Amino acid sequence: MNRPASARLLGTGMYVPERVMTNDDFTRIVDTSDEWITQRTGMKERRLAEHDQATSDLAIAASRAALADAGVAPEEVDLVVCATITADNTLPATACWIQDRLGCKHAGAFDLTAACSGHIYALAQARAAILAGQARTVLITSAEILSSITDYTDRSTCVLFGDGAGAAVLQACDQPDTGVLYTTLYADGSGGELMILPAGGSRRPPSHETIDRRLHYMQIRGREVFRFAVEKMEELIDECLKACGLTAPQVRLVIPHQVNKRIIDAATGRMGFPPEKVFMNIDKYGNTGGASVAIAHDEARRQGILGAGDVAILIAFGGGLTWAGAVIRHG
Ligand code: ACO
Repeated sequence: MNRPASARLLGTGMYVPERVMTNDDFTRIVDTSDEWITQRTGMKERRLAEHDQATSDLAIAASRAALADAGVAPEEVDLVVCATITADNTLPATACWIQDRLGCKHAGAFDLTAACSGHIYALAQARAAILAGQARTVLITSAEILSSITDYTDRSTCVLFGDGAGAAVLQACDQPDTGVLYTTLYADGSGGELMILPAGGSRRPPSHETIDRRLHYMQIRGREVFRFAVEKMEELIDECLKACGLTAPQVRLVIPHQVNKRIIDAATGRMGFPPEKVFMNIDKYGNTGGASVAIAHDEARRQGILGAGDVAILIAFGGGLTWAGAVIRHG
Protein backbone atom coordinates (compact mmCIF):
# COMPACT_ATOMS: atom_id res chain seq x y z
CA MET A 1 0.00 0.00 0.00
CA ASN A 2 1.31 3.45 -0.95
CA ARG A 3 1.65 5.78 1.99
CA PRO A 4 0.11 9.25 1.48
CA ALA A 5 2.38 12.29 1.26
CA SER A 6 0.35 14.36 3.69
CA ALA A 7 -2.76 14.71 5.84
CA ARG A 8 -4.65 17.64 4.36
CA LEU A 9 -7.23 19.72 6.15
CA LEU A 10 -10.60 19.36 4.40
CA GLY A 11 -12.94 21.20 6.73
CA THR A 12 -13.65 22.61 10.17
CA GLY A 13 -16.73 23.33 12.26
CA MET A 14 -17.81 24.59 15.63
CA TYR A 15 -20.77 24.82 17.95
CA VAL A 16 -21.36 26.83 21.11
CA PRO A 17 -24.51 26.73 23.27
CA GLU A 18 -26.86 29.69 23.07
CA ARG A 19 -26.89 30.59 26.79
CA VAL A 20 -24.54 33.52 27.49
CA MET A 21 -22.98 34.19 30.90
CA THR A 22 -21.46 37.68 31.15
CA ASN A 23 -18.94 39.03 33.64
CA ASP A 24 -21.75 41.02 35.22
CA ASP A 25 -23.73 37.79 35.71
CA PHE A 26 -20.86 36.52 37.91
CA THR A 27 -21.10 39.56 40.17
CA ARG A 28 -24.46 38.18 41.29
CA ILE A 29 -23.00 34.83 42.48
CA VAL A 30 -19.41 35.57 43.64
CA ASP A 31 -17.40 38.57 44.86
CA THR A 32 -15.97 39.80 41.54
CA SER A 33 -16.31 42.57 38.96
CA ASP A 34 -16.38 43.00 35.19
CA GLU A 35 -13.26 45.16 35.54
CA TRP A 36 -11.25 42.45 37.39
CA ILE A 37 -12.20 39.67 34.99
CA THR A 38 -11.59 41.80 31.88
CA GLN A 39 -8.22 43.13 33.04
CA ARG A 40 -6.87 39.83 34.41
CA THR A 41 -8.15 37.49 31.67
CA GLY A 42 -9.53 39.37 28.63
CA MET A 43 -12.82 37.49 29.06
CA LYS A 44 -16.19 39.28 28.74
CA GLU A 45 -18.65 36.43 28.29
CA ARG A 46 -18.80 32.67 27.82
CA ARG A 47 -21.42 30.14 26.67
CA LEU A 48 -22.96 27.56 29.01
CA ALA A 49 -24.68 24.34 27.98
CA GLU A 50 -28.26 23.64 28.96
CA HIS A 51 -28.77 20.95 31.62
CA ASP A 52 -30.07 18.47 29.06
CA GLN A 53 -26.99 18.88 26.81
CA ALA A 54 -24.04 16.50 27.01
CA THR A 55 -20.58 16.89 25.50
CA SER A 56 -21.46 14.59 22.59
CA ASP A 57 -24.38 16.87 21.67
CA LEU A 58 -22.00 19.79 21.24
CA ALA A 59 -19.42 17.62 19.46
CA ILE A 60 -22.01 16.27 17.01
CA ALA A 61 -23.16 19.76 16.02
CA ALA A 62 -19.54 20.85 15.44
CA SER A 63 -18.77 17.61 13.57
CA ARG A 64 -21.76 18.02 11.25
CA ALA A 65 -20.53 21.50 10.38
CA ALA A 66 -17.00 20.19 9.73
CA LEU A 67 -18.21 17.29 7.56
CA ALA A 68 -20.39 19.68 5.54
CA ASP A 69 -17.47 22.09 5.14
CA ALA A 70 -15.27 19.19 4.01
CA GLY A 71 -17.93 17.72 1.69
CA VAL A 72 -17.40 14.34 3.35
CA ALA A 73 -20.20 11.85 4.11
CA PRO A 74 -20.20 10.17 7.55
CA GLU A 75 -19.74 6.76 5.88
CA GLU A 76 -16.37 7.91 4.48
CA VAL A 77 -14.89 8.50 7.95
CA ASP A 78 -12.43 5.79 9.11
CA LEU A 79 -11.68 7.14 12.57
CA VAL A 80 -13.44 9.42 15.08
CA VAL A 81 -11.30 10.97 17.82
CA CYS A 82 -12.92 13.01 20.58
CA ALA A 83 -10.68 15.13 22.81
CA THR A 84 -12.42 15.94 26.07
CA ILE A 85 -12.06 16.01 29.85
CA THR A 86 -15.85 16.13 30.28
CA ALA A 87 -16.91 12.89 28.63
CA ASP A 88 -20.64 12.06 28.60
CA ASN A 89 -19.76 8.93 30.59
CA THR A 90 -16.54 7.28 31.70
CA LEU A 91 -17.85 4.24 29.82
CA PRO A 92 -18.47 4.19 26.87
CA ALA A 93 -16.22 6.67 25.08
CA THR A 94 -17.95 9.86 23.97
CA ALA A 95 -16.43 9.24 20.52
CA CYS A 96 -18.63 6.12 20.24
CA TRP A 97 -21.84 8.10 20.88
CA ILE A 98 -20.66 10.55 18.21
CA GLN A 99 -19.72 7.80 15.75
CA ASP A 100 -23.15 6.20 16.09
CA ARG A 101 -25.29 9.32 15.95
CA LEU A 102 -23.39 10.76 12.98
CA GLY A 103 -23.65 7.45 11.11
CA CYS A 104 -19.88 6.89 10.73
CA LYS A 105 -20.60 3.21 10.11
CA HIS A 106 -17.08 2.23 9.09
CA ALA A 107 -15.12 4.15 11.72
CA GLY A 108 -13.18 3.23 14.82
CA ALA A 109 -13.65 5.68 17.69
CA PHE A 110 -11.81 6.66 20.84
CA ASP A 111 -11.52 9.47 23.38
CA LEU A 112 -8.35 11.32 24.15
CA THR A 113 -7.57 13.15 27.39
CA ALA A 114 -5.04 15.96 27.18
CA ALA A 115 -7.10 18.80 28.70
CA CYS A 116 -6.59 22.10 26.87
CA SER A 117 -3.97 20.55 24.57
CA GLY A 118 -6.56 17.98 23.45
CA HIS A 119 -7.28 19.31 19.97
CA ILE A 120 -3.62 19.43 19.02
CA TYR A 121 -3.04 15.95 20.47
CA ALA A 122 -6.00 14.81 18.33
CA LEU A 123 -4.56 16.49 15.24
CA ALA A 124 -1.29 14.61 15.86
CA GLN A 125 -3.10 11.26 16.20
CA ALA A 126 -5.16 11.89 13.06
CA ARG A 127 -2.10 12.83 11.04
CA ALA A 128 -0.17 9.82 12.33
CA ALA A 129 -3.00 7.41 11.47
CA ILE A 130 -3.27 8.87 7.96
CA LEU A 131 0.48 8.87 7.26
CA ALA A 132 0.77 5.29 8.57
CA GLY A 133 -1.95 4.21 6.15
CA GLN A 134 -4.31 3.16 8.96
CA ALA A 135 -7.03 5.65 8.06
CA ARG A 136 -7.86 7.71 4.98
CA THR A 137 -10.35 10.13 6.48
CA VAL A 138 -10.36 11.16 10.14
CA LEU A 139 -12.89 13.28 12.05
CA ILE A 140 -11.54 14.90 15.19
CA THR A 141 -13.79 16.76 17.55
CA SER A 142 -12.79 18.56 20.71
CA ALA A 143 -15.65 19.34 23.02
CA GLU A 144 -16.16 20.35 26.62
CA ILE A 145 -18.93 21.10 29.06
CA LEU A 146 -16.55 22.60 31.61
CA SER A 147 -19.53 24.13 33.44
CA SER A 148 -20.25 20.57 34.68
CA ILE A 149 -16.95 20.48 36.61
CA THR A 150 -16.70 24.16 37.58
CA ASP A 151 -17.19 25.25 41.18
CA TYR A 152 -19.46 28.29 40.97
CA THR A 153 -18.64 29.20 44.58
CA ASP A 154 -14.91 29.67 43.75
CA ARG A 155 -14.38 33.08 42.18
CA SER A 156 -10.78 32.33 41.20
CA THR A 157 -11.80 29.55 38.77
CA CYS A 158 -15.48 29.88 37.86
CA VAL A 159 -15.08 33.03 35.78
CA LEU A 160 -12.53 31.37 33.50
CA PHE A 161 -14.48 28.63 31.77
CA GLY A 162 -17.10 28.13 29.08
CA ASP A 163 -18.61 25.31 27.03
CA GLY A 164 -18.23 24.57 23.32
CA ALA A 165 -17.00 22.26 20.61
CA GLY A 166 -14.85 22.39 17.49
CA ALA A 167 -14.13 19.79 14.83
CA ALA A 168 -11.87 19.15 11.87
CA VAL A 169 -11.74 16.63 9.01
CA LEU A 170 -8.37 15.41 7.73
CA GLN A 171 -7.79 13.21 4.70
CA ALA A 172 -4.90 11.41 3.03
CA CYS A 173 -3.38 13.38 0.17
CA ASP A 174 -0.70 12.69 -2.45
CA GLN A 175 0.48 16.28 -2.56
CA PRO A 176 3.36 16.94 -0.15
CA ASP A 177 3.78 20.05 2.00
CA THR A 178 0.09 20.66 2.66
CA GLY A 179 -2.26 20.12 5.59
CA VAL A 180 -0.76 19.26 8.97
CA LEU A 181 2.96 19.79 8.36
CA TYR A 182 4.21 19.23 11.89
CA THR A 183 2.99 18.33 15.37
CA THR A 184 4.82 18.25 18.68
CA LEU A 185 3.49 16.91 21.99
CA TYR A 186 4.78 17.23 25.54
CA ALA A 187 3.74 16.23 29.06
CA ASP A 188 5.03 16.71 32.60
CA GLY A 189 2.93 14.71 35.03
CA SER A 190 4.87 16.10 37.99
CA GLY A 191 2.64 19.17 37.57
CA GLY A 192 -0.58 17.14 37.62
CA GLU A 193 -1.76 18.67 40.89
CA LEU A 194 -1.75 22.19 39.42
CA MET A 195 -4.99 21.51 37.51
CA ILE A 196 -6.91 18.59 38.89
CA LEU A 197 -10.39 17.17 39.34
CA PRO A 198 -9.66 15.37 42.61
CA ALA A 199 -12.50 12.81 42.82
CA GLY A 200 -14.67 10.64 40.61
CA GLY A 201 -11.90 8.42 39.24
CA SER A 202 -10.36 5.22 40.62
CA ARG A 203 -8.07 7.17 42.99
CA ARG A 204 -11.09 8.59 44.81
CA PRO A 205 -14.38 7.08 43.67
CA PRO A 206 -17.51 9.15 44.23
CA SER A 207 -18.89 9.08 47.77
CA HIS A 208 -20.99 11.29 49.99
CA GLU A 209 -17.74 12.61 51.44
CA THR A 210 -16.27 13.60 48.04
CA ILE A 211 -19.47 15.41 47.15
CA ASP A 212 -19.67 17.19 50.51
CA ARG A 213 -16.05 18.33 50.07
CA ARG A 214 -16.74 19.59 46.51
CA LEU A 215 -14.04 17.33 45.07
CA HIS A 216 -15.86 16.81 41.76
CA TYR A 217 -14.91 20.28 40.59
CA MET A 218 -11.68 21.47 38.96
CA GLN A 219 -9.05 22.88 41.31
CA ILE A 220 -6.51 25.18 39.69
CA ARG A 221 -3.41 26.90 40.98
CA GLY A 222 -3.65 29.64 38.37
CA ARG A 223 -0.82 31.85 39.59
CA GLU A 224 1.67 28.95 39.42
CA VAL A 225 0.45 27.98 35.97
CA PHE A 226 0.79 31.47 34.55
CA ARG A 227 4.57 31.76 34.09
CA PHE A 228 4.94 28.15 32.99
CA ALA A 229 2.26 28.69 30.32
CA VAL A 230 4.02 31.76 28.89
CA GLU A 231 7.35 29.92 28.76
CA LYS A 232 5.96 26.80 27.11
CA MET A 233 3.92 28.74 24.55
CA GLU A 234 7.06 30.61 23.51
CA GLU A 235 9.03 27.37 23.23
CA LEU A 236 6.29 25.80 21.12
CA ILE A 237 6.22 28.69 18.65
CA ASP A 238 10.01 28.60 18.38
CA GLU A 239 10.06 24.84 17.80
CA CYS A 240 7.27 24.98 15.20
CA LEU A 241 9.06 27.73 13.26
CA LYS A 242 12.42 25.92 13.29
CA ALA A 243 11.01 22.48 12.48
CA CYS A 244 9.27 23.81 9.37
CA GLY A 245 12.05 26.20 8.32
CA LEU A 246 9.75 29.20 8.75
CA THR A 247 10.25 32.73 10.02
CA ALA A 248 7.56 34.68 11.87
CA PRO A 249 6.66 36.84 8.81
CA GLN A 250 5.96 33.67 6.80
CA VAL A 251 3.26 32.61 9.26
CA ARG A 252 -0.18 34.08 8.59
CA LEU A 253 -1.65 33.39 12.02
CA VAL A 254 -0.90 32.02 15.47
CA ILE A 255 -3.94 30.31 16.98
CA PRO A 256 -3.32 29.92 20.72
CA HIS A 257 -5.37 28.16 23.36
CA GLN A 258 -7.64 30.89 24.74
CA VAL A 259 -6.38 30.56 28.31
CA ASN A 260 -5.76 34.18 29.28
CA LYS A 261 -5.19 37.24 27.10
CA ARG A 262 -2.21 38.31 29.21
CA ILE A 263 -0.50 34.91 28.77
CA ILE A 264 -1.15 35.00 25.01
CA ASP A 265 0.00 38.61 24.58
CA ALA A 266 3.21 37.98 26.53
CA ALA A 267 4.15 34.76 24.69
CA THR A 268 3.28 35.83 21.14
CA GLY A 269 4.65 39.36 21.55
CA ARG A 270 8.05 38.08 22.65
CA MET A 271 8.10 35.71 19.65
CA GLY A 272 7.62 38.57 17.18
CA PHE A 273 3.92 38.20 16.40
CA PRO A 274 1.90 41.45 16.46
CA PRO A 275 -1.70 41.25 17.76
CA GLU A 276 -3.16 41.22 14.22
CA LYS A 277 -1.39 37.90 13.59
CA VAL A 278 -2.71 36.27 16.75
CA PHE A 279 -6.27 34.94 16.73
CA MET A 280 -8.26 35.79 19.83
CA ASN A 281 -11.90 35.10 20.71
CA ILE A 282 -11.43 34.75 24.48
CA ASP A 283 -13.75 37.74 25.03
CA LYS A 284 -16.69 35.77 23.57
CA TYR A 285 -16.14 32.23 24.86
CA GLY A 286 -13.62 32.26 27.74
CA ASN A 287 -11.54 29.12 28.13
CA THR A 288 -13.34 26.15 26.55
CA GLY A 289 -10.54 23.69 27.35
CA GLY A 290 -9.70 21.29 24.53
CA ALA A 291 -12.32 22.91 22.29
CA SER A 292 -10.70 26.32 22.41
CA VAL A 293 -8.10 25.93 19.63
CA ALA A 294 -10.62 24.03 17.49
CA ILE A 295 -13.22 26.79 17.79
CA ALA A 296 -10.63 29.50 17.15
CA HIS A 297 -9.32 27.68 14.07
CA ASP A 298 -12.81 27.35 12.61
CA GLU A 299 -13.65 31.01 13.28
CA ALA A 300 -10.37 32.14 11.69
CA ARG A 301 -11.14 30.11 8.56
CA ARG A 302 -14.73 31.35 8.37
CA GLN A 303 -13.59 34.96 8.73
CA GLY A 304 -11.44 34.40 5.63
CA ILE A 305 -8.18 35.02 7.47
CA LEU A 306 -6.64 31.74 6.30
CA GLY A 307 -6.55 31.43 2.51
CA ALA A 308 -4.92 28.87 0.22
CA GLY A 309 -1.26 28.37 1.09
CA ASP A 310 -1.50 30.26 4.39
CA VAL A 311 0.36 28.74 7.32
CA ALA A 312 -1.03 28.75 10.86
CA ILE A 313 0.69 27.70 14.07
CA LEU A 314 -1.63 26.20 16.71
CA ILE A 315 -0.36 26.10 20.30
CA ALA A 316 -1.93 24.94 23.54
CA PHE A 317 -1.15 24.34 27.17
CA GLY A 318 -3.22 22.61 29.83
CA GLY A 319 -3.76 20.12 32.60
CA GLY A 320 -1.52 17.09 32.79
CA LEU A 321 0.53 19.14 32.46
CA THR A 322 0.45 18.91 28.70
CA TRP A 323 1.52 21.28 25.95
CA ALA A 324 1.46 20.87 22.19
CA GLY A 325 1.93 22.62 18.87
CA ALA A 326 0.94 22.05 15.24
CA VAL A 327 1.72 23.73 11.94
CA ILE A 328 -0.96 23.66 9.24
CA ARG A 329 -0.71 24.80 5.62
CA HIS A 330 -4.20 25.52 4.34
CA GLY A 331 -5.38 24.17 0.97
N1 ACO B 1 -12.59 38.49 41.06
C1 ACO B 1 -11.94 39.33 41.88
N2 ACO B 1 -10.80 39.00 42.52
C2 ACO B 1 -10.31 37.78 42.31
C3 ACO B 1 -10.93 36.86 41.45
C4 ACO B 1 -12.12 37.26 40.84
N3 ACO B 1 -12.81 36.44 39.97
N4 ACO B 1 -10.19 35.70 41.43
C5 ACO B 1 -9.14 35.92 42.23
N5 ACO B 1 -9.20 37.18 42.76
C6 ACO B 1 -8.28 37.82 43.69
C7 ACO B 1 -7.43 36.83 44.45
O1 ACO B 1 -8.13 36.36 45.59
C8 ACO B 1 -6.23 37.66 44.81
O2 ACO B 1 -6.53 38.43 45.95
P1 ACO B 1 -5.43 38.62 47.10
O3 ACO B 1 -4.29 39.35 46.41
O4 ACO B 1 -6.17 39.42 48.12
O5 ACO B 1 -5.03 37.24 47.54
C9 ACO B 1 -6.09 38.62 43.64
O6 ACO B 1 -7.35 38.59 42.94
C10 ACO B 1 -4.98 38.25 42.69
O7 ACO B 1 -5.08 36.86 42.41
P2 ACO B 1 -4.08 36.14 41.44
O8 ACO B 1 -4.39 34.68 41.42
O9 ACO B 1 -2.67 36.54 41.74
O10 ACO B 1 -4.47 36.82 40.05
P3 ACO B 1 -3.78 36.65 38.67
O11 ACO B 1 -3.42 37.97 38.17
O12 ACO B 1 -2.72 35.59 38.68
O13 ACO B 1 -4.97 36.11 37.78
C11 ACO B 1 -5.74 34.04 36.84
C12 ACO B 1 -5.61 34.87 38.10
C13 ACO B 1 -6.66 34.78 35.89
C14 ACO B 1 -6.37 32.71 37.22
C15 ACO B 1 -4.36 33.83 36.20
O14 ACO B 1 -3.44 33.40 37.16
C16 ACO B 1 -4.38 32.82 35.09
O15 ACO B 1 -4.97 33.03 34.06
N6 ACO B 1 -3.67 31.70 35.29
C17 ACO B 1 -3.56 30.62 34.33
C18 ACO B 1 -4.90 30.19 33.88
C19 ACO B 1 -5.21 28.80 34.17
O16 ACO B 1 -4.58 28.11 34.93
N7 ACO B 1 -6.26 28.37 33.49
C20 ACO B 1 -6.74 27.07 33.63
C21 ACO B 1 -6.06 26.18 32.70
S1 ACO B 1 -6.72 24.58 32.93
C22 ACO B 1 -7.74 24.35 31.70
O17 ACO B 1 -7.74 25.14 30.81
C23 ACO B 1 -8.74 23.21 31.76
